[in-house]
Amino acid sequence: MIQSLRGMNDILSQDYERFTYFIDIATSVAQKYGFHYIETPLLEETALFKRSVGESSDIVGKEMYQFIDKGKNDVCLRPEGTAGVVRAFVQKKLDKAGGTHRFFYHGSMFRYERPQKGRLRQFHQFGVESFGVDSVYEDANMIMMTSDILKACGIGYRLQLNSLGDSNCMPQYRQSLVSFITSVEEEICEDCVRRKSTNPIRVLDCKNTHCQSLYVNAPKLINSLCSACDEDFTKLKEILDNNGIKYEIDTHLVRGLDYYSKTAFEFVSDDIGSQSAIAGGGRYDKLVEFLDGRPTTAVGFAMGIERLMELIVMPKISQEGYYIGALDDNAIDLVVQLAHKKKSHR
Ligand code: HAM
Repeated sequence: MIQSLRGMNDILSQDYERFTYFIDIATSVAQKYGFHYIETPLLEETALFKRSVGESSDIVGKEMYQFIDKGKNDVCLRPEGTAGVVRAFVQKKLDKAGGTHRFFYHGSMFRYERPQKGRLRQFHQFGVESFGVDSVYEDANMIMMTSDILKACGIGYRLQLNSLGDSNCMPQYRQSLVSFITSVEEEICEDCVRRKSTNPIRVLDCKNTHCQSLYVNAPKLINSLCSACDEDFTKLKEILDNNGIKYEIDTHLVRGLDYYSKTAFEFVSDDIGSQSAIAGGGRYDKLVEFLDGRPTTAVGFAMGIERLMELIVMPKISQEGYYIGALDDNAIDLVVQLAHKKKSHR
């Protein structure tokens, strides 16, 4: 018997109800915040993800469903939604139009990861991307929107927050981090040794417990932020405080995608096991430019729908309907007509 591929699931019956219940809630919250639907293709040029998510990331380096198509184009199934939305934004010349553009989307993403509970090779995200608002209030909006969606679904969370600095403060920090990594290089794992030269800040979220015990003493980026990043981070915390959104500062939160600067955040749940990240996002002010657009600031987030489906508290739906039966064969036609009438009057 032919089975579905590892890490790729069918969604039917009750799962489908949960799925659509979540999409309906998330869509209505996103629309209240002024976001509009966008749909981008599942298949894109591989170069799009190499340039945006970054060649040193695990997603691009190890997890892409990449192949050469019949026209000899190097293509891949999208591992995430942001890059495609930015590509569309630039391709439709919205960067040249200026102003503010806010999009939401949902759909399948593909990552060739080792499948386990909460970690699939084809999974679904609900995401939003906001372009052209150069203000930390928009970062706060993203976090409040995620929180609103989770609350409406009855899902509790912990919010982890960090700032990744910008092109002013990051290079200097990177140097001090590299010096630190060199000082412990003999003790760290092979992946971290490699990351030291490809993308040093990624060592900070290494899953190896011995590496983590060493990085407790690593220099912290939030202590080296330039004044602009520091002011934004302070303001963001103040807005969240004023709106009753609790957070934890996690100086090791670096996110697995290379395009972020300044705000980075993750929502985690303590109720679903080791794959606990239910949503993640942040600011990515350089990505539009990087993909050949006019410089445009941007911020966004995405939520993992399968992980959320484990947590959603579904409302009790009362089942109402009719049962129409025929006592003998001659009445069947009448019954079909009656049933059809009832259905079309609903
Ligand atoms: P991400 O953190 O890679 O961010 O993914 C967002 C969410 O997708 C995760 O928090 C998790 O819930 C879910 N997810 C990721 N990988 C898997 C998997 N293998 N199986 C099941 N669920 C998974 C992004 O993708 C960014 N594009 C988010 C963003 C939007 N940043 C700015 N705008």
